[in-house]
Amino acid sequence: MSEQSMEIKKLLISDLWKMKDEGKKITMITAYSYPQGLIVDEAGIDIILVGDSLGMVELGYRDTVPVTMDEMLSHTKAVVRAVKRAHIVGDMPFMSYNISIEQAVTNAGILYKDGGADSVKLEGGQEMADKVAAIHKAGIPAFGHIGLTPQTAALLGGFKVQGKSIDNAKRVVDDALALEDAGAFAIILEAIPQQLAEIITERVSIPTVGIGGGVKCGGQVLVLHDMVGLFKRFTPKFVKVYLDSYSAQVGAVKEYISDVQQGSFPGDEHSFNMPKEAVEELKKVLDH
Ligand code: KIV
Repeated sequence: MSEQSMEIKKLLISDLWKMKDEGKKITMITAYSYPQGLIVDEAGIDIILVGDSLGMVELGYRDTVPVTMDEMLSHTKAVVRAVKRAHIVGDMPFMSYNISIEQAVTNAGILYKDGGADSVKLEGGQEMADKVAAIHKAGIPAFGHIGLTPQTAALLGGFKVQGKSIDNAKRVVDDALALEDAGAFAIILEAIPQQLAEIITERVSIPTVGIGGGVKCGGQVLVLHDMVGLFKRFTPKFVKVYLDSYSAQVGAVKEYISDVQQGSFPGDEHSFNMPKEAVEELKKVLDH
């Protein structure tokens, strides 16, 4: 096989649309750092979201509201440096797009042009459609996010399932249609009844990716730290925990502490050696 044919091909939006057309599920996960980017890309994930959830799971903020553009940019760049195949979505933090169309396009441009993301994501439905349209018109692919939108959870009565009443469900459907019309290339459906997610998935032509939206969405996204057990503050109902890496890492550090305290680390295999004669000579020189 030639070197060229072994080259890993970056997933394009057209590939994601083709997956939808062929009924293949799209896989998506968050990552925030160089090693996390390497891990999820090697595992074969289709889309990596450098999510503003980094504020909670990496930076220790109470929620995603305080996350800044500088933080998003730095983490996006780290992931971009690691990834060869997956499509990378840079998440627009709260108040980086809410004020005006100009602000939204400018900051989308920073994540896309300076950060190297392949697209940007912003939260909100009908009320954000003008910004999604402007970002799209500027030549930047935009990913929508509706249902439970964490940045504005305070207006939604907290971190609650959305679309449970007919009126509210209709609003979520209208949000999806407005984003599709505005040019969004895909939409995240967060914390809505699975039946509603199924209806939306059938009615829009772009892929839907669910997080708490049930199995009928075109794909699924999870926060990496939730599914590998690294974030312990709370675990939403929609998370499946595949690994308890928090306990595994605490265990490893405890073992290291004990090894150091008992003098069993470092061993000979972790140490550098000087020839015996050189040691003797050094001692003589020092004692002289
Ligand atoms: O920031 C994030 O991780 C997200 C997911 C919850 C979809 O927006």
